[in-house]
Amino acid sequence: MDVVRHSEDMRRWRRGAYSSPFALFPTMGALHDGHLSLVRQARDSALLAVSIFVNPLQFGPAEDLAAYPRDLDRDLGLLEPLGVDVVFAPDPADFTPAGRRTTVHVAGLTDRLEGASRPGHFDGVTTIVAKLFNVVRPDTAYFSRKDYQQLLVMKAMVRDLDVPVRLVECDVVRDHGGLALSSRNANLSPAQRGQALALPAALSAAVASWDGDADTARARLVAALATAPGIELDYAEIADPDTLEPLYGQRSGPAQALIAARVGATRLIDNAHLRAVGPMAGT
Ligand code: PAF
Repeated sequence: MDVVRHSEDMRRWRRGAYSSPFALFPTMGALHDGHLSLVRQARDSALLAVSIFVNPLQFGPAEDLAAYPRDLDRDLGLLEPLGVDVVFAPDPADFTPAGRRTTVHVAGLTDRLEGASRPGHFDGVTTIVAKLFNVVRPDTAYFSRKDYQQLLVMKAMVRDLDVPVRLVECDVVRDHGGLALSSRNANLSPAQRGQALALPAALSAAVASWDGDADTARARLVAALATAPGIELDYAEIADPDTLEPLYGQRSGPAQALIAARVGATRLIDNAHLRAVGPMAGT
């Protein structure tokens, strides 16, 4: 497994890599079993690059960039046995130099939910992923449905800018209690981890009771999370799965339930698909 720290070296590596498809899995490191499961799926591609970059552009001023877990040696030790071909771990001073002027902005989709709670977050994600695509030049790129809004924003960017990368969507990986795996889970105490299970529980209940009534589903989600001990709800939304516009009243098409909440100082997000119940059932 090669480890590349500079964009020019990554470009050189890529020029020498003839076999395709060439896949990229972009990460911010602090790898967990969710990442590793996705690496195993992506490994079926001919060649696999994993990028590790704690992207300063996607953290707001009130968010603790410095506290984000970083342990490159540990991450490399986890990736090596999985047959990853190259890890691109650029230096922040090189990859986000002072004086940069350009931002990639996806309009509309980015102003709600995570975008409303974390202004500028998605501009940071799209700008850095566009750079990663330009340097690594993958044929395919892997994204988890765990960050559902991020996935939609990526799809919009790739479509609108004709980026020659095929996006591969991967299922959310959950632990035995149902908690979606996230690097942030490492910050939860055992008691908080128990409290955090209210998130997947509320989503499972929403899936089980979904009858197309978006108002009732939203109210139940809010009620379940507002009364759960240790949980400070940020949002609970029933939205169109493609546009993330909030849905109201009785629906026949599919919907997406999306939630964000703090457990202590740790902000967690999760989501679930609500299948069509009417004539569009099965989607
Ligand atoms: O999902 C993440 O870990 C990050 O948002 C990403 C896609 C690596 C961009 O920094």
